[in-house]
Amino acid sequence: MSRAPEDFVRSTVRPLAAYGPPRDPAPVPLHLNESPSDVPPELKRELSAQLQAMDWSKYPITDGHRLAADIARASGLDPAGVLVGNGSNELLQLLLFACVEPGDSVVIAAPSFALYALQARALGARVVPVPLRDGSGEFRFNVEALVRAAEGAKLVLLGSPNNPTGTTLSFEDASALAHKVSCLLGIDEAYRDFCAQDFAPLLSRHPRLVLFRTFSKALAAASLRAGCMLAAPALCAELRKVQLPYNLSAPTCLIARALIARPELVAERAGLVMAERDRMGRALRELGMNVHPSGANFILFEQSQRPANELHAALFRRGVLIRNVSSAPGLERALRVSIGAPAANDAFLAAMRAELQP
Ligand SMILES: Cc1ncc(COP(=O)(O)O)c(C=O)c1O
Repeated sequence: MSRAPEDFVRSTVRPLAAYGPPRDPAPVPLHLNESPSDVPPELKRELSAQLQAMDWSKYPITDGHRLAADIARASGLDPAGVLVGNGSNELLQLLLFACVEPGDSVVIAAPSFALYALQARALGARVVPVPLRDGSGEFRFNVEALVRAAEGAKLVLLGSPNNPTGTTLSFEDASALAHKVSCLLGIDEAYRDFCAQDFAPLLSRHPRLVLFRTFSKALAAASLRAGCMLAAPALCAELRKVQLPYNLSAPTCLIARALIARPELVAERAGLVMAERDRMGRALRELGMNVHPSGANFILFEQSQRPANELHAALFRRGVLIRNVSSAPGLERALRVSIGAPAANDAFLAAMRAELQP
């Protein structure tokens, strides 16, 4: 009997569910943790002119190196320790692809970004979740438990601030972890600008530390698909062997470099998000929600008035789309809302009031 094409897919991939929130159309989209504000129009105009002047027929031979050099300069690092990719997720996949062999253990926090476990499992890794929630119901990284789980593991992979909880790892805890684990320690810093976190100074002391950063959040360029990985030059050299040539397009590099050159835009945007995060947190608490502390551009809240699925659907009917995370173990009552522009946040709060205080 002839085999179906899907029967040729790795046995570790077949049982997985595809990642990705359906992009339902909604007038108020607060489900993807995108930046509420766009790149300024004058910068877009300037970049459009530069794009037109480029020779599109040529491979971007040096563009990625230039971007990596700019990133290295901005962080005070050796350019040999910077890899650039089409979004930080691509670099996360590259690290896993190059390092993880079937049967290796990959330690993650639970709950955390679904992609970590998905990509690790696809390679046949054993995913070891370490609960983030302590006995008091709060979320916090348990350094001792992570260190214990890391014994014999290939990689500990954490997000700080963590998606979907917003939990941050302190500089001291990141340093202690990096010191105590003998495997690779990957920290996804996608949301770091919303809490002024910077673990790059730890890199020189901890050669097994790997940091992931993105242009998709505070740099307001999710459509660009750009990110970087900061790590030991020796590790980057190995990963370069399997990275696809010219992986970043010349337009992506051009735009990404222009964004790095304007750090004041990030600071301003992050400041607005942080102020709105405080306002949203207060308003949600007034509505009786259990609001978890967040260092990111989103808030995880729990409530017992309505089943989470039902409240999520009711908000959607009112034009507000947030992220339903309630299918994750331990998050049965939880929903995650991105911090948007003030008008979008007001629309979300009005919909919440209408649903919970009829
Ligand atoms: C934890 C985490 N890491 C990274 C990203 C962004 O990935 P990328 O840089 O590929 O856009 C996201 C986006 O939602 C995220 O939640």
